[in-house]
Amino acid sequence: MRYRSHIISSTFSSSAHLISVFIFLLLPVPPPPADPRKMAAEMALVKAISAPKFGSPRRTFSYSKFTSIKISATAQTTSIPKPKPSKKANKTEIKETLLTPRFYTTDFDEMEILFNTEINKKLNQSEFEALLQEFKTDYNQTHFVRNKEFKEAADKMEGPSRNIFVEFLERSCTAEFSGFLLYKELGRRLKKTNPVVAEIFSLMSRDEARHAGFLNKGLSDFNLALDLGFLTKARKYTFFKPKFIFYATYLSEKIGYWRYITIYRHLKANPEYQCYPIFKYFENWCQDENRHGDFFSALLKAQPQFLNDWKAKLWSRFFCLSVYVTMYLNDCQRTAFYEGIGLDTKEFDMHVIFETNRTTARIFPAVLDVENPEFKRKLDRMVEINQKLLAVGESQDISLVKNLKRIPLVAALVSELLAAYLMPPIESGSVDFSEFEPQLLY
Ligand SMILES: [Fe+2]
Ligand SMILES: [Fe+2]
Repeated sequence: MRYRSHIISSTFSSSAHLISVFIFLLLPVPPPPADPRKMAAEMALVKAISAPKFGSPRRTFSYSKFTSIKISATAQTTSIPKPKPSKKANKTEIKETLLTPRFYTTDFDEMEILFNTEINKKLNQSEFEALLQEFKTDYNQTHFVRNKEFKEAADKMEGPSRNIFVEFLERSCTAEFSGFLLYKELGRRLKKTNPVVAEIFSLMSRDEARHAGFLNKGLSDFNLALDLGFLTKARKYTFFKPKFIFYATYLSEKIGYWRYITIYRHLKANPEYQCYPIFKYFENWCQDENRHGDFFSALLKAQPQFLNDWKAKLWSRFFCLSVYVTMYLNDCQRTAFYEGIGLDTKEFDMHVIFETNRTTARIFPAVLDVENPEFKRKLDRMVEINQKLLAVGESQDISLVKNLKRIPLVAALVSELLAAYLMPPIESGSVDFSEFEPQLLY
């Protein structure tokens, strides 16, 4: 369950540029290309294995408001017409928007320069070697073993709760797989320049492949499977410069850690909401994400130019805001899922934001003052505006009318984002790496 922000590759260096990035973030998703190959690619993400089976639910969920599942949160939802039936499989439509988990690529040549020990004397190889030993230990080698409880639990879910779980598994699997692809490529590309760092990336891709595979097995309980090979080729990749990869991936791993551990602890304390056994695996699973985050904090420390100036402060705040807002808007569209496992969505998100922000403050030079009640008020206003935007997208109006109705809403959303961004920040950072040891977060 990770949420990654969406950004462009230019080297922005002032708040004016940051404003343009926010505006970019809010632009409606363009309609899908007319190229039928590409359209088919977008659609063939989920293959139905066989007709779903339904059983009686173990307990009642309060899903009365939710009759359909959509992956959308922005002004316009990309509706893709159904493909012609093919021999391959029945394909389920997936809707893609700015808040859908994305795949990333970066400037690998620049990465090679950054990790060249001849060029960068700040690289603390002994620290990376210690981290490598940690990854080689492979604490979770035998953790991801399924049992018959999975299928039994899935068979008991029906109607909206079943759809919600499928969507949760799909999105989580996509996000984990996105990490796998990026880390695998970094492991491959850095092999010659810095074999230690390269091997850590490869071992992190091992972890992410395991996570994605486990979630995909979960989908098989619902008689579905994500076609990951196809996804690799078909999906569009978002380009991030290396420093943005570091900020975004660090946050993504840490927010993932806090989400998993919070759900795990909640369900341990409230086992009556344990409706699907995957959550029981989150305790060890989240330690993988925590280790990944720690590795990125070591990488950031080895590149002090990304942490020690005013631009670094602006970017740190920007990435914090992007990641927190993306999660909040996404989750507020899926309250049924969180209510289904006995959580209050907004409370859960604010807890995750507070904890992630506290962790992040140890390495980022500036973070947002998320504990100021005004920050949550702004997030809540963004949710309201986003709901109005979604309503416009779903209305029967012609597209010109829809776009006209969106203008004031998008302006209001940009203004809330800017106001949140410009709230007085918290100066942070400069904590030694030893404070990032995973056990401190238990
Ligand atoms: Fe993962
Ligand atoms: Fe991870």
